[in-house]
Amino acid sequence: MSLHKKTELKKITTHQLQEMKKRGEKIAMLTAYDYSMAKIIDAAGVDIILVGDSASNVMAGNETTLPITLDQMIYHASSVVKAVKRSLVVVDIPFGYYQGSSGEALRSSIRIMKESGGHAVKIEGGSEVKDSVLRILSAGVPVMGHLGLTPQSIYKFGTYSVRAKEETEANKLIEDALLLQECGCFGLVLEKIPAELAKKVANQLDIPVIGIGAGPDVDGQVLVMQDMLGITTEFKPRFLRRYADLNTIVSDAVQHYVADVKAKEFPNQEEKY
Ligand code: KIV
Repeated sequence: MSLHKKTELKKITTHQLQEMKKRGEKIAMLTAYDYSMAKIIDAAGVDIILVGDSASNVMAGNETTLPITLDQMIYHASSVVKAVKRSLVVVDIPFGYYQGSSGEALRSSIRIMKESGGHAVKIEGGSEVKDSVLRILSAGVPVMGHLGLTPQSIYKFGTYSVRAKEETEANKLIEDALLLQECGCFGLVLEKIPAELAKKVANQLDIPVIGIGAGPDVDGQVLVMQDMLGITTEFKPRFLRRYADLNTIVSDAVQHYVADVKAKEFPNQEEKY
């Protein structure tokens, strides 16, 4: 019983994220889609793990996030949840599973929470998803918003370039951010927007604002793990800092292994039964 309590206390909660914002402590968020990597990044101290629909790109090799299904997101999320001891696990509701009606959004969220064990969901959009956000929240499921470049709308935008550079779009983004907070979202992701606008939003909101390509003056940062570890190589936006070159490390290791097998140097005498 006391052990159970101790473990619970260590977990990051949506309330703790708000406290972090209040005391100016930055929030570190990364994506993960599988058990092994989630275990490493959770133990390394990441505050939020996002099971992003970017799994569609980096795990399944699709060009966009649109094809990934709810079942596939639940599969990824349940693998991540099993590995996590401390981080808050947020799961993207994929394209096509919340736009139809608020009832559909609620059903999708309930499936995610029940079948994956995730701790919260993330949904793209502002006023257009208000009813869905409210309905999901009414069931006690924490919701994170996502504004700016919302990849599920890529065919509407036409490009992955910086959003909200014009005043009209910037004003709509600010209104949407305030609306999502008013609805009860516990946090907000801002993707690829001017740093000054992101700063303004973060200053106006009480809930944590996590940026990706939104500059330094927000409450935290998120990156796609495969990008920051240098597993992906072609994707080179200005905002991306690569913290490792795993592509080269893995490739070198595999080439070494192949050479050892071909040369009959693996396994050796000690590596057999
Ligand atoms: O799916 C994802 O990885 C995301 C992040 C880019 C924020 O939504």
